[in-house]
Amino acid sequence: SSMYNSTNILIINYMKGYEEACKSFEPKDLEVSAVGRHFMITGANSGIGRATAMVVAKKGGTVHMVCRNKGRAEEARAAIVNESGNTEVFIHIVDLSQTHKVSQFAENFKKQFSSLNVLINNAGCMLHKRELNAEGLEKNFATNIMGVYILTQTLIPLLQMSRDPRVITVSSGGMLVQKLRFDDLQSEKGSFDGLMVYAQNKRQQVVLTEQWAKANPLIHFSVMHPGWVDTPAVSSSMPEFHHMMGERLRTVEQGADTVVWLALSRVVSRMCSGQFFQGEQQESDASRITSSPSTPADDSFPLQIVSLFPPTSLWLGLTVLLMRCRLL
Ligand SMILES: NC(=O)c1ccc[n+]([C@@H]2O[C@H](COP(=O)([O-])OP(=O)(O)OC[C@H]3O[C@@H](n4cnc5c(N)ncnc54)[C@H](OP(=O)(O)O)[C@@H]3O)[C@@H](O)[C@H]2O)c1
Repeated sequence: SSMYNSTNILIINYMKGYEEACKSFEPKDLEVSAVGRHFMITGANSGIGRATAMVVAKKGGTVHMVCRNKGRAEEARAAIVNESGNTEVFIHIVDLSQTHKVSQFAENFKKQFSSLNVLINNAGCMLHKRELNAEGLEKNFATNIMGVYILTQTLIPLLQMSRDPRVITVSSGGMLVQKLRFDDLQSEKGSFDGLMVYAQNKRQQVVLTEQWAKANPLIHFSVMHPGWVDTPAVSSSMPEFHHMMGERLRTVEQGADTVVWLALSRVVSRMCSGQFFQGEQQESDASRITSSPSTPADDSFPLQIVSLFPPTSLWLGLTVLLMRCRLL
């Protein structure tokens, strides 16, 4: 179909764009110490998240690995501690698709820790079947958007109290095939296409980042494309693409370079907040590249998400109210 043809063209252009952009990485930008800084990385047991956690640990940073599987998390932590010699690596077991669990975790983290300098929203999924979480939300949306939104929004007060705070969200070049839509956030209409739901979620992350940047000037927000990287996510969710790309896929270390640069480099804090990156190249107006530009209606997207947050107690209801107040 024409959608897939345009996706192929996009993928190839994006690879080239990425390789070009990479050439402008300045190694000295990363000659920094992360000692005393706290980094929370979701999905830190695998792929891009794990490679990022390794670099941060080597730079002396305190790493909070947010993972859903204890065994996989412990195996990754042992490898990170062993290779980096840094023991300040902590595991937090949370399934990001479970909205209330994410909310509880973030609230507890705020009580337990006095600072968080960098939040890296890296975990993501592409499910090809429509499944619901415990709260009745479609699972791609629950993981890629609601989990990211609740985690970030709850941790904003802690980030704001910390020095040089940053939030980085790992989106995808795949988002370029989608214009923001919020008429069907739960993918109830028509046939379910996991690839397009994922692309729509990744597009929504770009809009969320723009909105967060506007609402929270004390924090530096960015959203990025890691390039096409050889990870379990790609081999299991996109086996044909994985096979087609073969050797051209980037290694996980290469895939982590933009996140690492956004998380550690000093120059980043002087750059505009709310931007989309591929490599060091900044696409200040990501919507311009899509066939239909985003509209001012994007401003209401966070409220649309909040309205789907399922409060089960007075306490959660109050949290939602507070979130609304901060956004309005
Ligand atoms: N690889 C690429 O070419 C590419 C391109 C564009 C964007 N991305 C994005 O890059 C990010 C990282 O993916 P990756 O390629 O590095 O794949 P990966 O190696 O499979 O890592 C994905 C990570 O997310 C975690 N995760 C997924 N669902 C979760 C949930 N419900 N709760 C907690 N953790 C969850 C996974 O945990 P488990 O190990 O327990 O499954 C894993 O740690 C994703 O957001 C992906 O969309 C990747």
